[in-house]
Amino acid sequence: MKPLIAGNWKMNGLTASITEVEALIGKFDGAAPDDRDVLICPPATLVAGFAVQFSDEAIQIGGQDCHAESGGAHTGDVSAEMLADAGAAFVIVGHSERRADHGESDAAVKAKAEAALRAGLTPIICVGETENQRTAGKALDIVSGQLEGSLPETTDDIVIAYEPVWAIGTGLVPTNGDIAEMHNFIRTKTHFDTRILYGGSVKPGNAKEILSIANVNGALVGGASLKAEDFYPIVMAAPGAD
Ligand code: 13P
Repeated sequence: MKPLIAGNWKMNGLTASITEVEALIGKFDGAAPDDRDVLICPPATLVAGFAVQFSDEAIQIGGQDCHAESGGAHTGDVSAEMLADAGAAFVIVGHSERRADHGESDAAVKAKAEAALRAGLTPIICVGETENQRTAGKALDIVSGQLEGSLPETTDDIVIAYEPVWAIGTGLVPTNGDIAEMHNFIRTKTHFDTRILYGGSVKPGNAKEILSIANVNGALVGGASLKAEDFYPIVMAAPGAD
């Protein structure tokens, strides 16, 4: 399976940040290796510009969220069709920050994932437990429920991202055994060829170890995706597709 290394820039990045993407491509020395997929999900304001600028490069551009409907009276929202029109290939849905900040339910996330598929985008559907849920021994149950509620009916072209909430932006990472247990569990709930990404404090120093765990088919990287000098070694840490 081809690993997918995705950068989620969250609410960071101005037009000048294009230099970081240029620097990343520069490090590829002409061509990104074709045994891994590289994705950058900048804020919505930068999607079209980046997609146009890098259309000939071996990196793809994605959105960070989409509305479930294709258009209409939804001030401030962006539809999956708009992201596709802007040149995006992927969209993140159900990130824990959106579930928390915007009260997005599993059903809302499922509707967004279906909107993404309708628009020809690959949804990256995020799941993950909180610290309290893990401490209480409920991590697998919570993720199981999120998967049941958030996955679209058609799951042929989706990506799942396991992001323990307590590992996001904290420098904390589950043990390799806990990552393996969760990814193996998610694998039993989805297709054999669905990519399952790990996200939460992935850094150049831990990427190789995490990306070598069975059923970890890539990473969803936050803070360390903002700088080419950090993101490049993470991209290269993934074992390439056979
Ligand atoms: P960090 O890599 O900054 O922990 O963020 C992870 C994340 O939320 C990616 O979606």
